[in-house]
Amino acid sequence: PASTTHTGHGDLAVGGVPLTEIAERFGTPVYVMDEAEVRDRCRTYRAAFPDADILYAAKAFLCRAMARWAEEEGLGLDVCSAGELELAVTTGSPPERIVLHGNAKTPRDLETALRLGVGRIVIDSPSEIARLAAAVGPEGRQKVMVRVVPGIDAGGHAKIRTGTEDQKFGLSIRDGYAQHAITRILDQPQLELTGLHCHLGSQITSVKPYLVAVRRMTGLMARLHRQHGLVLRELDLGGGHGVAYRPGEQALDLTSLAHRVRVELTDACAAAGLPVPRLIIEPGRAVAGPAGVSVYRVLSVKHTGETLFVAVDGGMSDNPRPALYGAGYTPRLIGRPATAERARTTVVGRHCEAGDVIAEDVSLPRDIRPGDLLAVPVTGAYHFSMASTYNLIGRPPVVAVHDAHARLLVRRETLEDIRRRDVGL
Ligand code: LLP
Repeated sequence: PASTTHTGHGDLAVGGVPLTEIAERFGTPVYVMDEAEVRDRCRTYRAAFPDADILYAAKAFLCRAMARWAEEEGLGLDVCSAGELELAVTTGSPPERIVLHGNAKTPRDLETALRLGVGRIVIDSPSEIARLAAAVGPEGRQKVMVRVVPGIDAGGHAKIRTGTEDQKFGLSIRDGYAQHAITRILDQPQLELTGLHCHLGSQITSVKPYLVAVRRMTGLMARLHRQHGLVLRELDLGGGHGVAYRPGEQALDLTSLAHRVRVELTDACAAAGLPVPRLIIEPGRAVAGPAGVSVYRVLSVKHTGETLFVAVDGGMSDNPRPALYGAGYTPRLIGRPATAERARTTVVGRHCEAGDVIAEDVSLPRDIRPGDLLAVPVTGAYHFSMASTYNLIGRPPVVAVHDAHARLLVRRETLEDIRRRDVGL
């Protein structure tokens, strides 16, 4: 994983700071984010897609520092709630470079987006059209895109697959809903349709589905051009770019993606007699995921049948991904030399259910014992942002490392924080 290649696996320092020092200073469990790695990944995107708009998908990992890093590296943002939007804009993200998504936007989401002057609102259902037009008011005009279902199965876990017909997002081309919504948007003087959006899913490791998406989306653009004389200036292909979670896994090749999408788009537009739209992409996981490492302390070790169970001081409340998607990780013992002898181990959390697993059937040193530290790489995306207060443990802090310095970005949630919300009796 990239965040540790920066620093070398040996001593397990990230960003020049030993993880043992971070555990000592900030306690465990703790999320550690390598700032240089995040910035590098933003730069890699900009280099691979020099003439595209790159919107970081904030749902993967958002705090004020992350909004700042994305902005400083020239990325816009994809947000899907008033909360994400407000945090970003109050940190200084330019609202015109923000796109608001959501299959069920609340009145507050829309009000906040209009008040803060968000760049684009992505329409996801027919009922949203009139509602948004009314919220914009007779004097205003809001740029919008339409989220289209291209009908593509891009693989990946079923719970994060969004390009197919049978899920809650977007408007189907096949069934004509996308075309119908577009004609209704064109009738609303308050709405300016700038382009089409689609998002195929997440943790996609092949370029091919993106090429199919380009063909389907440009096909729809060509039909809209013929029927309505409509020329759309933007094509947003969403995110979904897969990363390597474990040694030996392949990330999506961004250079190849950029090149082949560009060629496909240019060819398809030339064939249809359309100008090439501005490309927009929305990577989340591939920006933040490999830049994060979680550190836990081992609390207990026990043998059960064939398996060595190692229980740590976190679990599904800070990493729900194994329970939700069967996600796999490769934890490493850090902070001391270990015996060469290894054991088949399952690393579990401290929550009250059997599915509370961090890593199933992995190889760890046989002499692992309470008090040891475990580092779990590639936990920068959809960990902190999906954390819960299950069993009232309190969510871990986020620490940034950069140039051999560690600094606290988000403090640990205390029991007092949790208790304060409990106002009844
Ligand atoms: N754009 C849209 C409209 C999205 O819905 C998403 C992710 C993204 C961009 C960013 O996708 P990425 O590049 O991060 O794959 N919690 C799941 C992932 C859910 C993704 C939701 N939408 C997980 O932990 O695997």
